[in-house]
Amino acid sequence: MTERKIMMDMKQLMLRYPTGKIALSGINLTVEQGQFVYLTGESGAGKSSLLRMFYGGLRPTSGALQVQGWDMRKASEDDIRSLRRRTGVCFQDQRLLFSRTVFENVALPLHIQGWKKQRLIGRVQKVLDYVHLGDRLWSYPEALSGGEQQRIAIARAMMATPPVVLADEPTGNLDEATARHVLDLLMGLNQLGMTVIMATHDLHLLNSHPGRVVQLHAGALVGDSYAV
Ligand SMILES: Nc1ncnc2c1ncn2[C@@H]1O[C@H](COP(=O)(O)OP(=O)(O)OP(=O)(O)O)[C@@H](O)[C@H]1O
Ligand SMILES: [Mg+2]
Repeated sequence: MTERKIMMDMKQLMLRYPTGKIALSGINLTVEQGQFVYLTGESGAGKSSLLRMFYGGLRPTSGALQVQGWDMRKASEDDIRSLRRRTGVCFQDQRLLFSRTVFENVALPLHIQGWKKQRLIGRVQKVLDYVHLGDRLWSYPEALSGGEQQRIAIARAMMATPPVVLADEPTGNLDEATARHVLDLLMGLNQLGMTVIMATHDLHLLNSHPGRVVQLHAGALVGDSYAV
C-alpha cells in the first residue's frame, strides 16, 4: 500500500476572533490526501472558521496547524499565496463576480497565474463541460439559476487542478436533485484525486454519497466516523 500524504494536521488547534469569541478549541484532526470529508455541526459550530484556516484566511491563535506541508503559524505571505494556488475554494462569501462573464469568473485562478486568453479558453471550456455548462461561457452569472451558479463556482475551484478543494455549504438552498448533482461533481473531483472538505448541514446526502464525517459542536470536535 502506498503511504498517503497528510494534507491537514491539527494539534490542540484554537481560534479566537478579535471579539474574544473562541470559535474553535482543542481540535486534533488529520486529513489525508484523497479523502472526502463532510464537516458538520450546528450553526455557529465553527465549520466555516475551520475551512478559512485551511487556506490561510485565518491564522491559529494557539496549537498547531499544518496545511499542505506549511506550518500555518509561521507561513509567510508568499507561502499563503502558494497555498491558495493549490487550493480550490467554493465559499458562500466568495460568490461569482456579477459584472464579469462566466468565462472571466472561471478563468480567474489561472488568469492571475499569467495564462493567456487562448489557452484559458480551452481550459475554461473543459471545466465547464465537466459541470455540464459548456454552452454558457459568455453568459453573465445573473442569467443563471442558483444551482448553475454553484456549478460555475465548482468549475472555478477546479480550474487550476488543485490538490485540495474546500466547499462551504455548496448544496445550501438547492433542491434535492440539484444538490445531488453538485455533490456528484465534488465526488468526481475527489475521484480524480483531489482531497475535498465540505461543510454541510445536508447529511441526508450521505445515503447516496458516503464519506468521512467530522462533527463539530460549539467549536470542539465531537465526532469522526466513516459513513458508508
Ligand atoms: N469574523 C468573526 N468575528 C467574530 N466572531 C465570529 C466571526 N465569524 C464567526 N464568528 C463566530 O464564531 C463561531 C463559529 O462561526 P462559524 O461561521 O465558523 O460557524 P459555522 O459552523 O460555519 O455556522 P453556519 O452553519 O451557520 O455557517 C460563531 O459563534 C460565530 O458567531
Ligand atoms: Mg458557515
